[in-house]
Amino acid sequence: MNDFTPLARAAELARSFLDTLPARPVRESGSLADLRRALALPLADAGVPPVQVIDELARAADPGIVAMAGPRYFGFVIGGSLPVATAADWLTAAWDQNAGLYVDSPAAAIVEDVAAGWLLDLFGLPQTASVGFVTGGQMANFTCLAAARHAVLDRAGWDVEERGLQGAPTVNVVVGEEAHATIFASLRFLGLGAATARRVATDAQGRMRADALREVLAKISGPTIVCAQAGNVNTGAFDPLEEIASLARARDAWLHVDGAFGLWAAASPAHRHLTTGVAAADSWASDGHKWLNVPYDSGFAIVKDPAVHRAAMSIGAAYLVAGDAARRDALDWVPELSRRARGFPVYAALRFLGRRGVAELVARCCTLARRIAERLAAAPGVAILNDVVLNQVLVRFGDSDDVTRAVIERVQEDGTCWLAGTTWHGKGAMRVSVCNWSTTAGDIDRSADAILAASRAESPRPRGRPGP
Ligand SMILES: Cc1ncc(COP(=O)(O)O)c(C=O)c1O
Repeated sequence: MNDFTPLARAAELARSFLDTLPARPVRESGSLADLRRALALPLADAGVPPVQVIDELARAADPGIVAMAGPRYFGFVIGGSLPVATAADWLTAAWDQNAGLYVDSPAAAIVEDVAAGWLLDLFGLPQTASVGFVTGGQMANFTCLAAARHAVLDRAGWDVEERGLQGAPTVNVVVGEEAHATIFASLRFLGLGAATARRVATDAQGRMRADALREVLAKISGPTIVCAQAGNVNTGAFDPLEEIASLARARDAWLHVDGAFGLWAAASPAHRHLTTGVAAADSWASDGHKWLNVPYDSGFAIVKDPAVHRAAMSIGAAYLVAGDAARRDALDWVPELSRRARGFPVYAALRFLGRRGVAELVARCCTLARRIAERLAAAPGVAILNDVVLNQVLVRFGDSDDVTRAVIERVQEDGTCWLAGTTWHGKGAMRVSVCNWSTTAGDIDRSADAILAASRAESPRPRGRPGP
């Protein structure tokens, strides 16, 4: 007989984890050695009863679970998960659909089709574009650049899918100095090489300079891909997409936009202006697991011309039952064959939020980012290094790399909130990224207090004045 008690137990454990999540210290509590001791069990000959497995896993993993889904995790660019999205993800696991082919899961295929339309609407992109539900920004960039590689070589009379790159015309890839690391990883995976990309100078906020792009494009000929960015991972700044799009069009270049989190600005009337010109690109990468607050892993590879997208991704075999125009086969749009039906949580999150809810989520995070920037900037010895146009804030303490590093370590140790560091134009900085649905003004103020306490503890005292 089927025993579903582990599911009920997991739901109970998840419930109590989520209940206590806002109060947990925002860091791990166990050392590497402790965690290994608790988790690295020998594989026994005899199995263990399922509820015991779940109970012991939850207990042993707990000290190594970071409260990144909680309201005061501001490291990297990490969203949480809306309860409705987590619930849909549980159903996704229970249904265990292989979402590669329509025939395997008509529901998964239709839900992806519908969610794709909603995403295109929110991002202000053509409804005719194709959308692949990939694992994240990395694979979204990869998929879009595979489509770009196909298109520019096809125009040069070269079939890259059949012939590969050996003997192919050279593909020029042009990126901003501040392109995200995953653009370079994608170029590596695609055989285009990371180091061959021509880097265009950026301005103080990390935006590609259109005048510098014009100069670079004037010096090259042949198949060309331009990679622009909507939302710099450090500053949140947007490349001047309208100007870049018109320069790329004049050169018949493919324009790709990495909008892992920044593309969501298009969904907020107050921030949409940052994305002006974005619809003129040929492909776009974005994420669900960041700002949409769906569980990992979830990203979107969007291509204006579905024929190009399909040509770069699709696979066929005699045993694979192909769909048709009305029956979506996900394998046409993503690098995988068998895959998780990750459209369900996206569909659930978008249905729950609606157009207004998405706009409010984006706008709220941006308001909270400005709030923490203002709180921190008001303190002596604290400087905000970027224009806070979106949800990203760069903070420097005591105008010193050492002090900044020490403040970050102290904040991480304290556990009120979690943030990490970066180097921005040669200066060490703390990065604050606000993209969790549950973060409140109270969380921001508590976090600002903790950061400022760490800053005071680490700041060199003015000479001649005794300490307390
Ligand atoms: C601009 C940008 N592109 C790509 C990525 C990579 O996204 P993912 O971590 O989902 O692969 C990130 C991650 O922060 C990003 O900020």
